[in-house]
Amino acid sequence: MSCDPAFEAARGALELLSTLKPPRLIGFGTGHTVGFFMDLARGYSGSWLVVASSIDTAVRASRLGFNVLYPPRGPLDVYVDGVDEVDPSGNMVKGGGGALLGEKILAFNSSVNIFIASEDKLVDVLGSRRPIPVEVVRDYAPLILGALESLGFKASPREGSGKRGPVVSDWGGVIVDVHVNGVRDPEALETTLRSIPGVVETGLFIGYADYIVVGFRKCGYKVLRFERRRSRR
Ligand code: A5P
Repeated sequence: MSCDPAFEAARGALELLSTLKPPRLIGFGTGHTVGFFMDLARGYSGSWLVVASSIDTAVRASRLGFNVLYPPRGPLDVYVDGVDEVDPSGNMVKGGGGALLGEKILAFNSSVNIFIASEDKLVDVLGSRRPIPVEVVRDYAPLILGALESLGFKASPREGSGKRGPVVSDWGGVIVDVHVNGVRDPEALETTLRSIPGVVETGLFIGYADYIVVGFRKCGYKVLRFERRRSRR
């Protein structure tokens, strides 16, 4: 028997949630794995207030009957999101869907963070398979790209589909993909990227996970527990 590993991870996150203090305010990330989670969690639409990390998620959650709160005010009880890459320390790359800024703000302001990943998202070294997405101030994108290149990075604005030109995020920044061929020191890379004026946020999520639920093709899931290092607490 084989299963969809993203679905298994979402199922695992819902089961994990049932063992924690029931949330009142919950954040939903962006992407297809979180889509499975929202579908499975529909039964809680009467008891949870939802904060969405993107327009796409806000629309999907509303269609499923969840009450979507905008703008969010207080901190979240729980945040659930997918990932693009996870390393053995629980550090992650996100932003494949261009929603990294909203996702990081919600993850920072949440008491408990649960990330959900199909097994193919596990890597030894972040950035070995995919570039690191960053969001940059739209009007100065060419200057910021130049600054990235002068630091030795190969960086390219992400091309959209359905429109010519770069992907502009829900918050108005341009999404730039920084090609790194494996990040030896994710924290140092984060510091370097953030030191460039106009880089609004990066898709490196270092120390944000409390739990990562990994789903397997052979069915089932595994819950990994991590020491959270980044939060408003
Ligand atoms: C959105 O910007 C991303 O951070 C997603 O959370 C990430 O790409 C995972 O998406 P999937 O669940 O679609 O793989």
